Amino acid sequence: MNGFIFDLDGVIVDTAKYHYLAWKNLANSIDIEFTELQNEELKGVSRVKSLEKILAWGNKTISETEFEALMKKKNEEYLNYISTMTSSEILPGVQAFLETIKEANKPIALGSASKNARYILDRVELRPYFDAIVDGNDVSTAKPNPEVFIKAAQTINCQAKECVVFEDSVSGIQAANTAQMYAVGIGEQHILFEAQIVFNDFKSMPSNFITELIKK
Ligand code: G6P
Ligand code: MG
Repeated sequence: MNGFIFDLDGVIVDTAKYHYLAWKNLANSIDIEFTELQNEELKGVSRVKSLEKILAWGNKTISETEFEALMKKKNEEYLNYISTMTSSEILPGVQAFLETIKEANKPIALGSASKNARYILDRVELRPYFDAIVDGNDVSTAKPNPEVFIKAAQTINCQAKECVVFEDSVSGIQAANTAQMYAVGIGEQHILFEAQIVFNDFKSMPSNFITELIKK
């Protein structure tokens, strides 16, 4: 593999829990039930699409002004959660994994739907590892559309087939598959079964996994 593309939320940092809390509070504030199972469907999905889904689940139609206000509210709560983040919230094994890729001189890109991606990478001090960052500010379609990963691969000058994508969301795995990239799921096998391979986290990967992946 010649290009290493990482999703951010739930792969590099444990922000998925903050997205969940902020969406849950928002949904409940407008009398919509919100379960962890529904939250799985929001992982990897843009802010706009997430709110559209929540409103559809609650059978609610609102004005554009209200829609904007709710998105703002959700993001303010989310930003509040992440404002005190430190590198202690980098997920297990991630930094060592990034180090190994760097030592092998392979390019690293971020492919995230989040518009807060650069801020988060700065907070956890991981920005220097990334040769390219493609985030929610750079794409017009949300995962499972592969646009974000295709752009990331182009930015690091890699053919799609030579890229590996690390993802914790079903929509992200589908995007990587559509882009014909090698999809590694980070999370649970029964949810991410469309990935080529799934690990609970980077620490649970066998020690030869990364070296084999680099050679592949
Ligand atoms: C990621 C997360 C989603 C989130 C989306 C947009 O893909 O998995 O839960 O909604 O980014 O994030 P943002 O920070 O721009 O609201
Ligand atoms: Mg994610």
